[in-house]
Amino acid sequence: MTVRTILTIGDPELRRRAEEVDLAQIASAPVQRIIDELIATMRDANGAGLAATQIGEHVRIAVMEVGNNPRYPYKPKIPLTIAINPVIEPLDDERVEINEGCLSVPLRGDVSRYVNIRVKYLDRDGVEHDEVKRGLTAGTWQHECDHLDGVLFIDRVADPTTLSTWDEFNEHHRDAFIERITAFVERIGS
Ligand code: NI
Repeated sequence: MTVRTILTIGDPELRRRAEEVDLAQIASAPVQRIIDELIATMRDANGAGLAATQIGEHVRIAVMEVGNNPRYPYKPKIPLTIAINPVIEPLDDERVEINEGCLSVPLRGDVSRYVNIRVKYLDRDGVEHDEVKRGLTAGTWQHECDHLDGVLFIDRVADPTTLSTWDEFNEHHRDAFIERITAFVERIGS
């Protein structure tokens, strides 16, 4: 399985809107290969998710998976999910500030995300899904779907003073964030 190069901020490819995948193409070898490479690349980088845009493939496909992730130890688990043509609809106005990172951006920062969303997508077999996602998992979905529109989390950081490198985050902000977000996860259950 090929691990692909992950594009980083400044690469114009990250700013392109990805195209919908034609239902008839989902079973094709090129689409299935992109899915396999997304999974391999996400796992190699210890990411919680990866969008096709990030490997320079401009199709609306994202993968997500959270097990015991050393990069995001506070995140509730997400089974391996392949989302083709995902569409998100907020269910209400509730929001939470999540300190996010991204494999394409060498910084972390606080982003306001919807807490309760409905997601519609196709899996790699072309099966339709219509599900509710909450909390940090909902945040991950919003982050990955943003990539497919050429949007990076850093575009949504309202307070630039929350930006930090991973090292500075670990030294100065990690403990307070984990305390706050763990209480949130316990309240929300995801
Ligand atoms: Ni990202």
